[in-house]
Amino acid sequence: MRIVRLSLANFRNYIRLETAFPRGAILLAGPNAQGKTSLLEAVYLFTHARSPLADNDRQLINFLALREEQPFARLEAEVEDSNGPLRLELRLFYERTTAGEPRFRKDVLVNGVKRKPSELPGVFRALLFLPQELRVVEGAPSDRRRHLDEAAAQADPPYRTAMWDYHHALTQRNALLRALQEGGGDPSQLDVWDEPLAAAGSALLLGRARALAEIETLAAPLHRRLTHGLETLHIRYHPAWDPSRPAGDADGLQHELPIDAVVDHTKWKADQVRGMFLDHLRATRDQAVRRGLTIAGPHRDEVRFLANGIDLTTYGSRGQARTAILALKLAEVEWLRARGGEWPVLLLDEVFSELDMRRREDLLADLACADQVFTTASDPEMLPAGYRECAQAWWVEGGTLKPYSPETEKS
Ligand SMILES: Nc1ncnc2c1ncn2[C@@H]1O[C@H](COP(=O)(O)OP(=O)(O)OP(=O)(O)O)[C@@H](O)[C@H]1O
Ligand SMILES: [Mg+2]
Repeated sequence: MRIVRLSLANFRNYIRLETAFPRGAILLAGPNAQGKTSLLEAVYLFTHARSPLADNDRQLINFLALREEQPFARLEAEVEDSNGPLRLELRLFYERTTAGEPRFRKDVLVNGVKRKPSELPGVFRALLFLPQELRVVEGAPSDRRRHLDEAAAQADPPYRTAMWDYHHALTQRNALLRALQEGGGDPSQLDVWDEPLAAAGSALLLGRARALAEIETLAAPLHRRLTHGLETLHIRYHPAWDPSRPAGDADGLQHELPIDAVVDHTKWKADQVRGMFLDHLRATRDQAVRRGLTIAGPHRDEVRFLANGIDLTTYGSRGQARTAILALKLAEVEWLRARGGEWPVLLLDEVFSELDMRRREDLLADLACADQVFTTASDPEMLPAGYRECAQAWWVEGGTLKPYSPETEKS
């Protein structure tokens, strides 16, 4: 998979950009705050139309453009995989409601045809490595869930559908639970949301269990190599509602297992899990009404990373977290490739500054065969010389790109 051409209008600090990209290694060099990360963000947006770097889509529109009468940003890309070329377009803009109020909109187009943002994952595949992704190891359970969902949604269309269905059913069920909490009423009204929640929830649970088992198999040897054989990585999935555990306490919460407990969730059949989850939702209705929310389910799942049996979220050092996330990401590259038959586009933001030279070289050797790899560096000297020589380089400054060679910088 690769991006052939990119065109940006009013995106972040890019007022206008029109550029073509070659296959292979691409280096984006330049001083701080000039647009290197934003360019990777623009490419990554074509995977699922949401940015991990923005709290909301409005932040993606250029500051100056936001002051105009009708603010908009447009991102267009021509991408190519073994099936041929595709045109992708994202439009972010304000329209007027019938009452004359400005309303924000996001349109997604594939080959000129409007599609729902939820239909985008899987069309264009890319993996983004950000320095701040340490939070996947060190941060909150929601960071780990989001990370897993983003990878799994690109690899697995039914997973994607289950994600959207679960989110929809959960939002509706919680709204009904709040209404029942405040106003009373017959809890059997929950029937209408319990069924779809159980169907989507069981698909998510099994999708996560399988994805993590496969990713762990790929990540463990990579991690062993990155730690020079000193550490062994394990990934542990802890579903908040777990078919493997006995019924919960008075609040419907199951007792917590130790973080290093090994449970094989992949053995379950979808129908079994759906039935058991549905029974659980029904059995815990009273507690859910009392609290005005759905107590347990995939929206509260946890994933933990262990090195030599030590939980990295609680006890890991910075360096251990960094190595674990790198092994995880490299494993996801292989996993996506195995699932889709193609290399995803790799977007590596300042990853090299985090690694010693030997690990930089190891990483580049692993990625040498990818169709297209973007790397950013405020200091290109950070990169192994071999990479600098073979990469096509651009100098990024003030939202513009120009061809670059180390000599350009020196002159
Ligand atoms: N909506 C926006 N409109 C205009 N400028 C923006 C917008 N959002 C961010 N910026 C600015 O774009 C610039 C480029 O940011 P970016 O993160 O891409 O820089 P960078 O080249 O990766 O820098 P660094 O080397 O520090 O990582 C920053 O100055 C940032 O403040
Ligand atoms: Mg940056």
